[in-house]
Amino acid sequence: MIYDDYIALQKLLDCNNPQADPKYALEESFFIRIHHIHEINFAQILEDLQSFDAKVITSSLKDKKDQLYRILACWKLNINTLKLLEFLDKEDFLSFRPSLTGISGMQSSQYLLWIEAFYKTVDRYSNQSIHHSSITSILQSIHTSHSDWLAAHEEVILHFIQNDHGTGDTEGLRYMQEQRNHYDTLWNEILTTLN
Ligand code: HEM
Repeated sequence: MIYDDYIALQKLLDCNNPQADPKYALEESFFIRIHHIHEINFAQILEDLQSFDAKVITSSLKDKKDQLYRILACWKLNINTLKLLEFLDKEDFLSFRPSLTGISGMQSSQYLLWIEAFYKTVDRYSNQSIHHSSITSILQSIHTSHSDWLAAHEEVILHFIQNDHGTGDTEGLRYMQEQRNHYDTLWNEILTTLN
């Protein structure tokens, strides 16, 4: 086996299929890649969180912390990945955007699984084996990073579409701000269980 086959490179590269007029393909393909990088990170985050839960009783404090630090690192990578959008041509984006009607990141199945897994899996937080100040502090940093990603996303919305509705037909900026407040509320409830 060679490197390209080992990482299924051709399959990976074939996953980029711009839908709009080919004259916007370079920018649309850049836009799609930024989403792909996020989805690869989401996949890693979900697997790590699942593995963290599966081993929570048996793993050492160090192993638990290392696994949570990796989730945190992936969220930080998402924040940096989103910054790539600074290099997306705005005029081209607005030209290919109509081909995204009905398609929105809010439909990302992995992102929705993240919300369920991190904010709504209450059993994890009532488990005594994670009641340790250093674990709480990393979990707090993970929530803060997710929240920072949402704040960066709000900047992106302002830059590209201002007060326009999203392609997922929400109120755009206002929707994102409400989501951020909602996750803060869920996190504060979790904190009361942890403290
Ligand atoms: C020019 C770039 C982007 C714009 C203008 C944009 C715009 C929006 C808007 C307006 C929403 C609100 C829902 C809607 O009505 O569609 C949204 C939600 C969302 N977007 Fe983006 N987005 C961009 C890039 C990205 C990227 C690169 C990702 C990476 C996965 C992403 C993931 C999401 C997610 C996960 C939500 C739902 C957030 C939540 O409900 O907590 N977006 N986006």
